[in-house]
Amino acid sequence: MTGPSIVFVCLGNICRSPIAEGLFRHMAESTSYDGVIDSAGTGSWHAGQPPDARAQQVLRRRDIDISGLRARQITPQDFLDFDLLLAMDTENLADLRTIAPHRARDRVHLFLDFTLGEAAADVPDPYYGGASGFENVCDLIERAAGKLLQHVAS
Ligand code: 4NP
Repeated sequence: MTGPSIVFVCLGNICRSPIAEGLFRHMAESTSYDGVIDSAGTGSWHAGQPPDARAQQVLRRRDIDISGLRARQITPQDFLDFDLLLAMDTENLADLRTIAPHRARDRVHLFLDFTLGEAAADVPDPYYGGASGFENVCDLIERAAGKLLQHVAS
């Protein structure tokens, strides 16, 4: 099985979406799902940078290494290349919808709505907070990623 290609999208692509990418890839390894998994930011400020040290640390505690990831900005081509573009918060969703080609609009979803059925629910931005914020975000993303895996691997 291959399954849909998925790109997780946040603002900077250094905190939430690389956590989602790393967790989801790790969880998918023990399943038959073998689709392309990626992440990107709506902004370009951090392009080329590795994930935030706090994001790396929170996943290292789960034996997942995301140090090799590098931030990039979402591109128009992503709307054609990926089956699912999953936005971490409603602002990311609005930004994606603004630039999505018309025929790719149904590929764009809010991550927690698509996975947990929580309409308009955001994965909170942990960037300006402390380490506990990253733990909470990681737990939330892990729960949602489990549902996503059930969805795409069935
Ligand atoms: P992310 O977090 O969107 O989860 O990667 C942020 C990273 C950087 C900034 C904001 C949020 N920033 O303002 O630079």
